Formats: sequence, structure tokens, C-alpha cells
Amino acid sequence: MQYNDLMKKCITLARQGEGFVSPNPLVGCVVLDRNGNEISTGYHSKYGENHAERDALLKLTNGEEKGGTLIVNLEPCSHYGKTPPCTDIIIERGIKRVVIGMRDCNPKVNGVQKLKDAGIEVIEGVLDKECKQLNEIFIKNITKNLPFIAIKTAATLDGKIATSSGSSKWITSEKARAEVKKIRNRYDAIMTTSSTILADNPSMEHRKKIILDRELITDRTTKIYQSGEIHIFSKNNTPVIDNKLDLTFIFNKAYEEGIKSILIESGGHLNGSALKYADKIYHFIAPKITGDNNSRSCFDFRHIDNINDSLKFRFDSIQTFDPDILTTYYPVKQ
Ligand SMILES: NC(=O)c1ccc[n+]([C@@H]2O[C@H](COP(=O)([O-])OP(=O)(O)OC[C@H]3O[C@@H](n4cnc5c(N)ncnc54)[C@H](OP(=O)(O)O)[C@@H]3O)[C@@H](O)[C@H]2O)c1
Repeated sequence: MQYNDLMKKCITLARQGEGFVSPNPLVGCVVLDRNGNEISTGYHSKYGENHAERDALLKLTNGEEKGGTLIVNLEPCSHYGKTPPCTDIIIERGIKRVVIGMRDCNPKVNGVQKLKDAGIEVIEGVLDKECKQLNEIFIKNITKNLPFIAIKTAATLDGKIATSSGSSKWITSEKARAEVKKIRNRYDAIMTTSSTILADNPSMEHRKKIILDRELITDRTTKIYQSGEIHIFSKNNTPVIDNKLDLTFIFNKAYEEGIKSILIESGGHLNGSALKYADKIYHFIAPKITGDNNSRSCFDFRHIDNINDSLKFRFDSIQTFDPDILTTYYPVKQ
């Protein structure tokens, strides 16, 4: 049997947990009976709540899953965390085959072996790439003990994010800006700067906001401060290197404070400084041209003479939010 479509369904189910499950991974699950009929679905909806496999299996009360197949995007857990091991309920319920997208990179998890030891057939690696991308934040956290850093910019065709006087509202359309709200939801916190607050007075609605304000020059009555949990980094609590707040310190500190992923929404200076930490770039492009070389660029942090010294990225995806487009990229090791 081909499990690709069912694994896609697991990924879609898992995404419903975005914004609620951090620091846990996003997980969705489908259960088939012994004849291959779909009988239940589940997903991890909130940190501390049931994992996807348990959610799907607890909906079944007549034993119809006995001898059936369970499909899940991440290796089932085999250890006690906030909830009991998923491998236990899979074994207890008499599931005969488990199909997984990717192994869990958490060294505490040894679910595949535990299932095999119980005589369950395990099929691995179905839509492995898509499953890893779904949990790219979790993978970075577990393997590097650091937050996942994404940068979002919105630029004109000539790569400008504001005019020289700082006017930037609005480069992109309402549709594109609605998508930004969805992107924000994937991240534990958004990060911006005093310069952007002074220029735009943005609200940037989010649960957690990180504000870089070295000299504490922003006004606490401005919109950004009116909602969400605010984390301010200034020269009073952060080392300063070359007149700039130390981003390595900030990202480590944020991680210690439980912020596992950050979406940077700032101007070209912070975007540029943060590039060496970036795991992903969301680049909106509006079909407009400022035509002014003095307009501000999306990434502005150095002078180079040779175009071959440009930083390189791997294209990932393109979506249309008419009339704008959103392209996403991952860094390439230079
Ligand atoms: N279209 C878009 O996507 C978009 C998004 C946001 C903003 N904007 C526009 O961008 C313009 C502002 O751009 P900008 O380049 O002047 O500002 P920026 O990149 O938002 O902020 C730069 C400021 O951030 C502070 N900062 C703190 N730590 C830093 C570090 N490690 N590296 C770099 N900067 C650090 C510095 O202020 P201190 O000197 O006080 O440390 C620096 O002057 C505004 O006009 C706004 O409208 C556009």
C-alpha cells in the first residue's frame, strides 16, 4: 500500500497544532482498520495534551483498530514525559503496522525498536523530507539547543523595503499581510528593533515580542507594547559589540527563557546582522519599483566588490498572494 497520501494527511492534521505545541513537535496521526479503512485521526493540539497517536486511538472504543495500521509523521515516543509513552498504547491496542515519516532526533526516544520488539511491522521514511520540514524548528532545538531563526521581508522589485525617509506602508497587499499573520503564528516570538518601531509604529500582534532597543529610546505607549509578553534587550542587559547588541547572547538568552523559534521582522540592518544566524527566509516581493538607489534595502550590512562573494541560498517554495509573491529560501553552507 502507498502511504504518501495518508502521510500528507498527517502533516495537515499536525499543522493544526501550530502556535500551541512548542517546545513539542507538530504531529498528526491516521489509523486504519485491518482492511485498510480509515477509522480515526488525531493530532497533538497543545503542549501537555495527548500526543497524536493517543488522541487518535482514544477515539476508538470498540477494538476496531486491532490488527490495523497507524500512520504518524514522527516516530512514536517511548518515554514518560507529560504523557505516557505512545508506544505503550499502540502495542496495547493491537496495532500490527506502524508507518512513520521520520525518526525522532530526541535521544530519549527509541520508539521504532520498542515497536519492533513487540512484533509490530515498522515502515520508515514515508515523505521523510516533508516531515523533516514540518518539524524544522523542533529538529534545530533538539540538535543544536538553539532557537530556529527566520527572517521575513517585504520588498519591491528593486529589493527595497522602505524609502530613504522610512516610508514603507504598505509595500505588499492585504492578502500578503494576512499570510504574514499565519507565518508569525508558527514562531514562539517575533523580533524587531527600535528603528522599525520609530519608523512604523507597528502593532505586530503576537504572543511574545522581542524588542532590540540598545539606548531604550522607544516609547512604551506605542502600539507594539500594548499586547503580548515583551522581552526588551538593551545595553543594560546585553553585551554590546561594535556598537551593536550581541545577537549570539540574545538568541541564547531567548532560548533559556523558553523561546524556541523567532521570526525577525525588521529593517535591513538587523536583517543583515541576523543573516549569519538565519535558518529560513520568507521574502515577499511586490510588483513595484522605487527606482531610488537611496531607498532602503532588505539586507544592508556590508560592502562587497565581487558579485561572487554574495551569500547563497537554496530556493524552497513560491506562492502567489496576488499581486505579490512569497518565496522562501534556506541558507547554503558557504
Ligand atoms: N518592508 C519590510 O519588510 C520592513 C520590515 C520592517 C521595517 N521596515 C522598514 O525598515 C526601516 C528601518 O530599517 P533600518 O535598517 O533602519 O532598521 P532595523 O534593521 O529595523 O534596525 C536597525 C537598528 O536595530 C538596532 N540593532 C540592535 N542590535 C542590532 C544588531 N545586532 N545588528 C543590527 N542592528 C541592531 C540598531 O539600533 P541601535 O543603534 O539603537 O542599537 C540599529 O540601528 C523602516 O523604515 C521600516 O519602515 C520594513
